[in-house]
Amino acid sequence: MTTAEALQTATATLAAAGVDAPRVDAEWLLAHVLDCPRAELALRSKEPLTEAQQAEWDLLISRRAARIPLQHLLGTAVFCGLEMEVNRHVLVPRPETELLAEQAWGFAGGLLAPVILDFGTGSGCLAIVVAAHCPDARVMALDVSPEALTVARANAERHGVAAHIDFHEGDGREGLPGDEAFDLVLSNPPYIPTDDLPSLQTEVREHDPALALDGGADGLGFYRALAKLALPRLKPTGRLMLEVGDGQAEPVAALLAEAGWGECELLPDLNKVLRIMIASPANP
Ligand SMILES: C[S@@+](CC[C@H](N)C(=O)[O-])C[C@H]1O[C@@H](n2cnc3c(N)ncnc32)[C@H](O)[C@@H]1O
Repeated sequence: MTTAEALQTATATLAAAGVDAPRVDAEWLLAHVLDCPRAELALRSKEPLTEAQQAEWDLLISRRAARIPLQHLLGTAVFCGLEMEVNRHVLVPRPETELLAEQAWGFAGGLLAPVILDFGTGSGCLAIVVAAHCPDARVMALDVSPEALTVARANAERHGVAAHIDFHEGDGREGLPGDEAFDLVLSNPPYIPTDDLPSLQTEVREHDPALALDGGADGLGFYRALAKLALPRLKPTGRLMLEVGDGQAEPVAALLAEAGWGECELLPDLNKVLRIMIASPANP
């Protein structure tokens, strides 16, 4: 079978299995099997697959058709241009979270030796890209999952920023790590209401860790905790930056105001969903 034929059949198989972007996923998997950049596939369309490549390809396509996430099959996800190792212990980094990362390094980059907390670090994607953009920053990366922290540490090593990040294991709702004042607290916390978990897309429901998704009965549990815990730990000039779910901007803004926060800025994602909240402590 040539690579072009393999792509054509696999695209049909993945489409029939309900995969969202069947052609794109098939191309990524083929590039993985051929160990070449995706852009090179067109040049290799007439090349036959070897027996070993065919066996690997068949396995990957059947696993993707079983709705195992593409990034789990590749072992990596790209976040802000950096390749992050991912597995079933961490949320696959999402494109909308890149907006939070950009806001975070935009703010922290203007400060001298900022101290930053990434609450719920998962793969470490936010902590790592912010550390990479702000070389004099000190970042604390907190997660309740020791398995997630193992992945985050490996990613920090991979990108040469491990020396700038302190990893903390613990339940952040019980208190934030250390006793320093932060310049920036950022978080993409679990925010799916518990009752909505069963209706999520198969890839998410069955392969992202429940710990990374479940935001409690109304999905707002972690925002309530952060609204209370982050305020006394921020410098007066500091910021709290949060990713929120679709439709959560208003209730989260209300609970921040109730907890005594000052100005709150809301930013939309590419789908015009209010996605990022930037809150400042109230003026004394
Ligand atoms: C939505 S994921 C975000 C992961 C990563 N920051 C990202 O944006 O891709 C939320 C993370 O919060 C962690 N988490 C869940 N409950 C926690 C808790 N009580 N304290 C600290 N971290 C928690 C999960 O393990 C998960 O890694």
